[in-house]
Formats: sequence, C-alpha cells, structure tokens
Amino acid sequence: MINRKYYNLDYGMDHLNTSVQIIGWVSKRRNFGDLVFMDIRDRTGIMQVVFQDAQLPLAKDLKNEYLVNIWGQLVERQDPNPKLPTGMLEVIVSTCEVITKAKQTPMIVADKTDALEELRLKYRYLDLRRPIMQHNLMVRAKIVKAMRDYLDEQGFIDVETPLLTKSTPEGSREYLVPSRVHPGEFYALAQSPQIFKQMLMIAGFERYYQISRCFRDEDLRADRQLDFTQVDIEASFMDSDHLFSHMEAMLQDVFQQALNQELALPFKRMSFKKAMDNYGTDKPDLRFEMQLQDATEIFKAVDFELFKDIISEGGVVKVLVVNQAQALTRRKVDELTALVKKHHARSLVVLKYVNGELTGSIRKFLSDIQAQQIIDQFKLVDNDAILLVGDQWEPACIGAGALRSHFGKQLFEFDADHFEFVWVVDMPMFEYVASEERLVARHHPFTSPQSQYVDSLRSKPLEALANAYDLVCNGFEIAGGSQRIYDPELQKEVFELIGFSQADIEKRFGFFVEAFDYGTPPHGGIAFGLDRLAMVLTHAESLRDVIAFPKNAAARCPLTGAPSTITSAQLAELSLKVAAKDKET
Ligand code: AMO
Repeated sequence: MINRKYYNLDYGMDHLNTSVQIIGWVSKRRNFGDLVFMDIRDRTGIMQVVFQDAQLPLAKDLKNEYLVNIWGQLVERQDPNPKLPTGMLEVIVSTCEVITKAKQTPMIVADKTDALEELRLKYRYLDLRRPIMQHNLMVRAKIVKAMRDYLDEQGFIDVETPLLTKSTPEGSREYLVPSRVHPGEFYALAQSPQIFKQMLMIAGFERYYQISRCFRDEDLRADRQLDFTQVDIEASFMDSDHLFSHMEAMLQDVFQQALNQELALPFKRMSFKKAMDNYGTDKPDLRFEMQLQDATEIFKAVDFELFKDIISEGGVVKVLVVNQAQALTRRKVDELTALVKKHHARSLVVLKYVNGELTGSIRKFLSDIQAQQIIDQFKLVDNDAILLVGDQWEPACIGAGALRSHFGKQLFEFDADHFEFVWVVDMPMFEYVASEERLVARHHPFTSPQSQYVDSLRSKPLEALANAYDLVCNGFEIAGGSQRIYDPELQKEVFELIGFSQADIEKRFGFFVEAFDYGTPPHGGIAFGLDRLAMVLTHAESLRDVIAFPKNAAARCPLTGAPSTITSAQLAELSLKVAAKDKET
C-alpha cells in the first residue's frame, strides 16, 4: 500500500533540492527526445516532472491518466510558468512506478473540455478529475463546514428528520415510494424537513439545523435538481431581524473561509413589490441598475388600442430604456418579443429615439406632445430604445424583467468577486392560480401573515402580506423562509383558504395541527439551497457543476442509467402494475 505524505501543492521553495514523492495522474506529456516533461495531477494541482538520462525509458510507456508513484529531486524550474502555483518547481525523476494503467479516456481530463454534458455525466468520475470540478466541490465542502461551525457555535442542534415521510402541501410534486409491507400505501420523499422542523420547535429544541436532502419532482432547469440539498434552519423566539443577522454573520464566515473574501453587512432589504416594480423579478440581480419604469399614465391618454385595453382592464405598461441600441434590428426585436411571450407577458412594443425623433410602429398613435412627454420622462438620449411591455401588473413586470436580465448579461461585465445580496421581504401570502381556480400559498401554508392582515385574511386574502423572505444573490434565490403560524385556528384558516376542507386537513395534516394544541412557541426559519449557494459562489453555470452526481436536464443519471425499469417480480412484491406497458429489465 502506498501512503501519501504530501500533495503537489504542499511543495514550495523550502523543499528545493530534497527528495520528494509525487503521486498522481499523468495529465500531459511533452517529448523533447532527450527530455520528457510530464504534468502529474493530484487533487491540489499540477506538478511538472522531468524524465532524463537513465530514467528516460521509464517515460516511454506512460500514457494520460496512468496513475503513477514517482520519487525524485525537487529543483527550480528553468522556464517558470507563472500561471501554475507550482510553476517555479519541477521534479527530476529518479524512480517511477505505475500504480494502475488507464485506457484511453472518452473525454479529455482538463478544465477546457469540448465533451458534451451527456458524456461528462456518463464518465462522471473522469469529469470530476478536472481541476475546476475538484475546486467546485472543495469550495462546496468549505461552505458546508463554515455554516455548520457557525450554527454549532450559536447553539443550533443538528437533528435528522425522515426522508421517507408523508405527503406535505409544499407545492411541488412529490416522489412517491410504494410500501411493500402495506400494499397500496405510499411514502412521499421529503420535499423539505418543514413539518418536522416545526415539530422540533414544539418539542422545545429552540434552535435546529440540518443539512438535508430534499426531493421534488419538478421540471429541471439550470438551477434546479430533483434531489438537492438544503441547509435547513429553524428557531423559536427569534424574529426575522434576529434571524437575518445570524444568517448574515454565517455568510460572512462562509465568504471568509470558502472564498477568503470580506462580505459587507448588513444586506440590503427590498419589498417584493419594489423588486417586481423596479427589477421585474422577485430575485433581482443588483449588480447593475437598469431599473424598470412605468408608462401607464402616459398611455392612458394614447389612442393605441392594445395598451388602452390593457390599462382599462387594470393593467400597466412597464418600460425598459436601453442605451446605445443601434443593434436593435427588426430580427432582434422579434427575438425579444418571443422572450417576453415566453414569460407570459402579452406584448412588447419598441420605440427608438434617433436624431431627436421618436420612431417606431406606434409613433403614429402619439401626439407630438405625448412623444415629447416620453422623451422627457424617460430622459432619452440619442440612440436609446424604449421597450414597452403591456399586461396585468405581474406578467408585465416579469416580461420587462426578462428583458432587463437579457440586456444585463449582454451589456455588463461582472467582477468575479462581486456579490450583491438582498433580502426580499413583504411577500404576498397567496396567489390566485386560474387553472386550479383557487388560491395557493406563495411560500408554504405554514407561513404567518403579517399581523395587520390577520383580521382581513378571509375577506381580502390577495392583499395580505406574509412574514416571508427570500435571500437573493446576483439574481438567484439562494434561501427562503418565513415566520410560522403558531395559532392552530389561524393555521386552519390558511388551510381552508387554499381549498383544503376540514376532512382534508384532518386526513393530511391532522397530526401537525394537533401538535399546535400543546404549547407551541413562536418560531420561524429559513432554508438555504446549498447547491445554489455553491453555484453562485463558484460562478458555475449550472447546479450540475457543483453536485458530484447530478441528473441531466432530462431527469436521468447517464452514469447509472437511473431511472430504469424493474422486474415483474419486484413490481409484484410492491403490489404494483405499470399501466402503460409492463416493462421488464
Ligand atoms: P424553498 O422551497 O424556498 O423553502 O426552498 C429553499 C431553498 O432551496 C433551494 N431550492 C432548490 N435548489 C435546487 N433544486 C431545487 N429543485 C430547489 N428547490 C428549492 C432554493 C430555495 O431558496 N421549507 C422551506 C424553507 C423554510 O420555510 O424554512 C423551503 O423548502 O435555493
């Protein structure tokens, strides 16, 4: 057995001219006839080794990804490579033993890869050898450790809660697991530990945390996985302000330990309404301004039927001004229209301000005074474009917000160490889902309304604001939580408002509602999406780059082949039948 003492990056100038051991994978070779250079990669980085003289034959059979055990002399490099941490050093090989050989790999093991994601996921163990992936997972581990350390120090107790549990009303579709011993009955995989952490508060733990897997059968996006990890937190007798200050201090430790970076506190706070109005999203990216504006007042008086109708139905016209918009061709406008429609907003209209004139298809509906009003109100300068999105308030904001985010990515370059955190607060309690003809809880039904809305909850539910908050960083929701309802009557009322009958409540959450009858403390909490936080902090493009073994966009694991069919014997044991086609492996 080979024992390792040092990693490549442990070696520095103070080890010069000593005998060193290098254990790692061959990652690159350059052959100069009487000299062969190789990069040997371990989890810390690269060390260059040199085969020469009598050792030259040892290099002959070495191929990429062979795992080797080398002894040699550490010397100063003739041609230093400032890009590498060990760029001043190289090892003159004296012995080289091949620990294991490797076949030619189906993808190149290097940061720059043109391998398709499917291949990367199929050979994930090779993909994970790439230094960038090792870095991402190591940063992730540091994030977890910093959070754990902070929470432990502050008296939060790590308690595990079941993954196989009962269906909860948190909004997402659940994964169901058939019970073998109770034919026809199912567990649900936990969407989050929500109900259990609240019961831990009722049980008197006061401060809880858990690094917990969560399962949600959602349509996948770059920032969503089916099974993901939360750093889940709950506390009794701790209002939002107090919780925020803990979370901010915890993130300060995370930044210090994972990124070696200072984090300025306190974070900004913004109401949901302001976030939507000014940024067109409840997850505003505050690294750039480009705020949305409003042209509803002006268009009330304009004879442009589309906007007139929208406004008369209570809608709005949101505005995004884009500077230096010469490149906004017809085709580009068509693309932007498609983007706005994809976000379910009704219409996009573009006006341009060129050579002191407002131009565009709807210019003819504007009087000269109205045109001037637009120029003045939005402070247009030459070559500006003004993008107008008309619809009901929320879709209009979201449509215009999609445009803002599109141009933000295009027009601004962000520094890697630029992180803009904001607490988005004052969320509405409910939204009306037309397809289901009912109200749903925007966060989850355990969320408390703000006290001033309790009395009017039944009569004006859509006006009620919740005691809920999201933590947003650079346009991503990295955490969400709320202060909870702790009055059993109010909890029942909220269940009823979202359409659960008394019988539903009894059947589905009777145990939970009952727990409230035994001295429930006021409590609240939050859950961080650990994968999201790691993605944002490492600037990864997708959650898949910070999760060791993720599912692909089609919800499959190309490495293991999950999901897969099962045998009829397995189905029979679970008292199940597959309706569509009885597939068997
Ligand atoms: P919520 O549903 O907002 O709240 O989830 C908390 C955080 O988890 C992350 N997240 C996800 N990450 C990856 N893939 C997903 N599919 C996914 N869904 C959510 C997000 C989100 O902010 N029980 C409540 C928390 C509470 O109230 O305390 C909850 O789960 O970063």
